[in-house]
Amino acid sequence: MKQLQEKIIQEGKVLSDQVLKVDTFLNHQIDPPLMQAIGEEFAERFKGSGITKILTIESSGIAPSMMAGLILGVPVIFARKRKSVTMNDNLYTASVHSFTKNVTSDISVSKDFLKNGDVVLVIDDFLANGQAALGLLDILKQSGAELAGVGIVIEKGFQPGGEMLRGKGIRVESLAIVESLENGTVEFREEGVS
Ligand code: G4P
Ligand code: NA
Ligand code: NA
Repeated sequence: MKQLQEKIIQEGKVLSDQVLKVDTFLNHQIDPPLMQAIGEEFAERFKGSGITKILTIESSGIAPSMMAGLILGVPVIFARKRKSVTMNDNLYTASVHSFTKNVTSDISVSKDFLKNGDVVLVIDDFLANGQAALGLLDILKQSGAELAGVGIVIEKGFQPGGEMLRGKGIRVESLAIVESLENGTVEFREEGVS
């Protein structure tokens, strides 16, 4: 997605060979028109898949998911990282290990919102090691809902998450795939090449 690549070039900051900071439009401040374009792109790629719900994880997955949900006309559910006071034991939970932070934490979704018969698009802001996506897929499996695919705003193609998910036969649609952050420079994987 060209508009997204241009935004990353203009505003992204390469913090290391591993980490890209995009807090001017995705992870802290949010750019609504760009999120709208991202939502339209996800909707276009997954139209015809019969999607009934979008599932993401707080916090940075919510903005792009919201826009995709608006355009596809389906509800957006975000997995919670902390249980809210109103959440009881009626939950699907999965544990997610972050290699980046070296912590394992539980995520949860109320059983009220995912059911057998739902066809679900999983969306997240970043795909690195794929552990967050695996946790969401675990929750989907518990619910009996069907996975339509995974939509990612920025995939780090040099980390193993994308290959791991595609290796399971999962459809992964990443709107920008960063191939390298070496020498402080963002290199993208060409469209159509995987
Ligand atoms: P994984 O799910 O792919 O295994 O990811 P990992 O544990 O490595 O990532 C932990 C957090 O760091 C996630 O956000 C993820 O989106 C984010 N992240 C990973 N790599 C990058 C990167 O290069 N740049 C930026 N900006 N973020 C990255 P989170 O802690 O869940 O935070 P949030 O969703 O509340 O923003
Ligand atoms: Na994030
Ligand atoms: Na995220």
